[in-house]
Amino acid sequence: MASTSSLSAVLLLCLAMTASAQLSPTFYQTTCPNALATIKAAVTAAVNKENRMGASLLRLHFHDCFVQGCDASVLLSGMEQNAIPNVMSLRGFEVIDSIKAQLETMCKQTVSCADILTVAARDSVVALGGPSWTVPLGRRDSTNANEAAANNELPPPFFDLVNLTQSFGAKGFTVTDMVALSGAHTIGQAQCQNFRDRLYNETNINSGFATSLKANCPQPTGSGDRNLANLDVSTPYSFDNAYYSNLKSQKGLLHSDQVLFTGTGGGTDNIVNNFASNPAAFSSAFASAMVKMGNLSPLTGSQGQVRLSCSKVN
Ligand code: HEM
Repeated sequence: MASTSSLSAVLLLCLAMTASAQLSPTFYQTTCPNALATIKAAVTAAVNKENRMGASLLRLHFHDCFVQGCDASVLLSGMEQNAIPNVMSLRGFEVIDSIKAQLETMCKQTVSCADILTVAARDSVVALGGPSWTVPLGRRDSTNANEAAANNELPPPFFDLVNLTQSFGAKGFTVTDMVALSGAHTIGQAQCQNFRDRLYNETNINSGFATSLKANCPQPTGSGDRNLANLDVSTPYSFDNAYYSNLKSQKGLLHSDQVLFTGTGGGTDNIVNNFASNPAAFSSAFASAMVKMGNLSPLTGSQGQVRLSCSKVN
């Protein structure tokens, strides 16, 4: 039994590796040579117009890849968009749709929505001062989406360290990858309903920090649920390593952020310490974990399709 399951695990890993091995950074070099420059210009303009958009596009890519792989399933109207972690929370669809429209006029049905989203996530990080990396390309778009999987496989903010480790481990990430990817919360915002419990019921929270947030996130549930706070209290619009120093001073906004430092079970404190004191270590761990995330079960070759419009199948 054990050997059967480890054999299937090896087979699955091989399949995943074969699929990502087919991705290549030069995939559009001859078919749509200006694709990458077009995406970068549009993302930079969108982030300059509204800083938060960089965060929203990065999160959109994460929520795409964790649910049946990086296949743009999250961009299809309805479906996954209605899942609990996504509804009234995900943003940035219009930016991706407008990039897609531009690329369709340049190179008809060539650049997939899944690739646009992967590149847009990287360009968002760069636009906010974070690290860059080379994006392997050639993903194709799904013809379906899975709301139930979005509910089951995206980690909720009340998860403890053990649940988070399982959730990321199930997608092939190490604990270091998980702590690095969580550093994405160095930008962007969260709604009061996602951190209220922490403000009023947790003890490992800086008291001044809690007090300042309570004003805009009152009890009881129902009032101010959608009021926003910055995930990184110190440098909210800069993609840096301040997120980890915040954790060390008990200023993580979400429960799932703070458990990475002195969370039950421990084990990640040393990684947080390293990323807090060594920005280069964080940048390189984040970049490599992002490439790994972008390689989650892509559709390649003749699988799926290249959508004409990211919000609907052809
Ligand atoms: C470790 C598990 C994670 C949990 C539990 C989690 C949970 C959340 C929650 C609850 C929000 C706020 C949503 C809202 O209130 O509307 C949020 C925002 C965000 N998340 Fe995560 N997240 C996790 C990991 C990640 C990862 C891996 C990334 C990307 C690599 C990411 C990127 C973001 C960004 C950038 C925002 C801000 C979005 C915006 O301002 O529009 N998160 N996350």
